[in-house]
Amino acid sequence: MNAFFIVLLIISIHFVLSSTTLANTQFHDFVGVNGVCFVTYYKRNHLLVSNRHGILQLGTPWADGPDRITQCPIQPGASYTYRFTIINQEGTLWWHAHSRWLRATVYGALVIYPRIGSTYPFEPPKLEIPILLGQWWNRDIIDIQNQAMFSGAAPNISDAYTINGQPGDLYRCSNKDTMKFYVESGDRILMRVINSALTQQLFFTIANHKLTVVGVDGLYTKPFTTTTLMLGPGQTTDVILVADQNPGNYYVAARAYESAQNAAFDNTTTTAILAYKYAPCSGQIGTSFKPILPNLPNYNDSATVTAFTTQLKSPDNVSVPLDITEDLFFAIGLGLVNCNPGPTCQGPNNTRFAASMNNVSFQLPQTTSLLQAHYQNIPNVFTIDFPPVPPTPFDYTGNVSRALWQPVPGTKLYKLKFGSQVQIVLQGTAIVSTENHPVHLHGYSFYIVGEGFGNFNPGTDTAMFNLIDPPQRNTVNVPVGGWSAIRFVADNPGVWLMHCHIDSHLTWGFAMSFLVENGPGRLQSISAPPLDLPPC
Ligand code: C2O
Repeated sequence: MNAFFIVLLIISIHFVLSSTTLANTQFHDFVGVNGVCFVTYYKRNHLLVSNRHGILQLGTPWADGPDRITQCPIQPGASYTYRFTIINQEGTLWWHAHSRWLRATVYGALVIYPRIGSTYPFEPPKLEIPILLGQWWNRDIIDIQNQAMFSGAAPNISDAYTINGQPGDLYRCSNKDTMKFYVESGDRILMRVINSALTQQLFFTIANHKLTVVGVDGLYTKPFTTTTLMLGPGQTTDVILVADQNPGNYYVAARAYESAQNAAFDNTTTTAILAYKYAPCSGQIGTSFKPILPNLPNYNDSATVTAFTTQLKSPDNVSVPLDITEDLFFAIGLGLVNCNPGPTCQGPNNTRFAASMNNVSFQLPQTTSLLQAHYQNIPNVFTIDFPPVPPTPFDYTGNVSRALWQPVPGTKLYKLKFGSQVQIVLQGTAIVSTENHPVHLHGYSFYIVGEGFGNFNPGTDTAMFNLIDPPQRNTVNVPVGGWSAIRFVADNPGVWLMHCHIDSHLTWGFAMSFLVENGPGRLQSISAPPLDLPPC
């Protein structure tokens, strides 16, 4: 396999927004077009934008999509076509709404096949199955968001998880619509697993079958075999499954990985069925009519998460940045801000939840997008003073008083010179709780060179970094009460959001943006915006 292929694909995506005012009409519709699957979604009048999560958008930063980062929203009833080029990525990514919490149901797989004339770096599968893990609320998701932001507790408890839109037969009344994947004995199947859940990391497994991981986040990995995956929201994992078990029915299952202590969360299990064609009637298999249930780890089994994560390795041909010119340290997590007593104070002792990176709680601009403000030199939209290290260093994972860490709102960007070699240590904090955060960076795939528990120790931890074959991803699960170190070269000019991919944390302000300056050539400079970019 030539690792330096360039795939030039123009993929257009249309969203259809209907003018129906039905409050809870939500239906999905999967369409496959040239390997691209869409979920179209019709709902109330919503301003909508979507993000091609993980597509690098080299030379096409305007097509990235997050609300008021790279564009203003598409008006209800209007449509907008995203035009973009895919360079040096192959595998599974996805797209999703990126305004308020609409991505709860507005998402779909983005599958990038090997370029014509080339093939997979493994024995080609007979069958490919996209598997989109989702999270479902019976109530309108904007009501749920408002509740989470402005009142009440436990906003994140969903009513079900889903596999390709279906909860599966462990939920009441969901029996007949359970998703079935039909296979034949001996088939090699490429499963493209995507965690599309709004607020939950998920374990994924299939009864009695082994999964060989071959790629994550739109890039190949060294293959390794496991029984269980853990995916943070925003992550994808490509696995090969061989249908080598007794012909029968086996559950494909997912449920929460929840690392925050005392968290209220949805602890239900979604299932689909891996169904062998030509199996003898189900009643004759084993003792039961039912599909065989898999073992899923306990919801708080962080050891399984670490074991899975540390097996991920890039192929041997990668080159990790070694001469770091930007050495950044971001303390990340939840915090509390004082609150005038009232229904909006959902935190303890007249506080409300906030989240931050280096104590800055990110605020979206109101009137224009950051990329437009940067490109057109519009003043007073953002400031370029995001702190490269926390303003007050402290014992991040110890018991700290919240007085030390009251997030301050701001729209602060961090400027990177084109070509900078960047290292960021993402350090989890324990202000409200310690928990595993899936941190996503737009516009880049980064190397995850190290991770650990407790406070990052530059002396001893740096010496343990994997600078040979670390995995490349666009979303990293920062271990609960711990840290992850990532590296990338700032070779993609634009404004790129970095944020926790748990949407409640994002809305509470767990985000920042990089402003990457132009480089010397045309492809290294921000292009003019598309003429039809929705106006602000
Ligand atoms: Cu997949 Cu900013 O998100």
